[in-house]
Amino acid sequence: MEKVVPIRDSIYLDFLSKFGVGGAHPGGFELTKEILQGERIHAGTRILDAGCGTGQTAAYLASTYEARVIGVDINPIMVEKAKQRMEKNNLPVKIIQGSIEKLPLKGGMFDLILSESVLSFVNKPRALQEIYRLLKPGGRFIANELTVNKKPEEWVENEIKTFYGFDSLPVERDWISLLERIGFKNIKIHSQTTPILQHQATPEFHYSAHIDPKLYAVMNQHFQMIAKYHEILDYRIFSCSK
Ligand SMILES: C[S@@+](CC[C@H](N)C(=O)[O-])C[C@H]1O[C@@H](n2cnc3c(N)ncnc32)[C@H](O)[C@@H]1O
Repeated sequence: MEKVVPIRDSIYLDFLSKFGVGGAHPGGFELTKEILQGERIHAGTRILDAGCGTGQTAAYLASTYEARVIGVDINPIMVEKAKQRMEKNNLPVKIIQGSIEKLPLKGGMFDLILSESVLSFVNKPRALQEIYRLLKPGGRFIANELTVNKKPEEWVENEIKTFYGFDSLPVERDWISLLERIGFKNIKIHSQTTPILQHQATPEFHYSAHIDPKLYAVMNQHFQMIAKYHEILDYRIFSCSK
């Protein structure tokens, strides 16, 4: 029997899904749009939004570029909210529930795959291997991912990992080594210089009908965590090719 990839235990991800946070990555939607401008995207470009959340980026790609987009997310609440967005806006974006560590999709399907703050929540080598398999030769991969500026003390590392549900806190070199090991070429880092603390763009919300009261505190905890560890927590935008 196929092994199902479990959802990582993360109070932060529970909060994001119940509040239906769109643009849940450093820089938010504005940074997404800026980065996409640097890619060759046109009508018919096949794109996978890996860990699409409520589908904000996937919808934008379909409506602005007329790209052929698939969004995948492991969380059923996110999937439902992303589907509602596509229906409401009459967009032909296919949303599937699944894990980017193993997807029931043919290899070599996509011109571009995006991962906006998703790899930190998964088994990174497995997800990157799967992303590599799904890309066409020459296809592009862009990831906006949490990166630490220096390895923190163990207790700080544990506090961050427990709150977010991360299994590791990579520095820039760790990400590059991993991408190289999988076989990605032409690895570049977007020259974004705004620190994570100043890069908290206003997100969008699609609230669930019932929200556990303890989740209201989680958003504050997230901002406190970023403020407290602003010298450690950072992010990088990596782009590379298969
Ligand atoms: C920080 S949110 C980012 C969502 C979206 N990319 C955005 O920027 O708004 C992380 C997303 O990754 C999803 N996720 C976590 N593990 C996943 C997995 N194994 N496969 C697919 N999606 C996953 C979560 O459900 C969540 O929607």
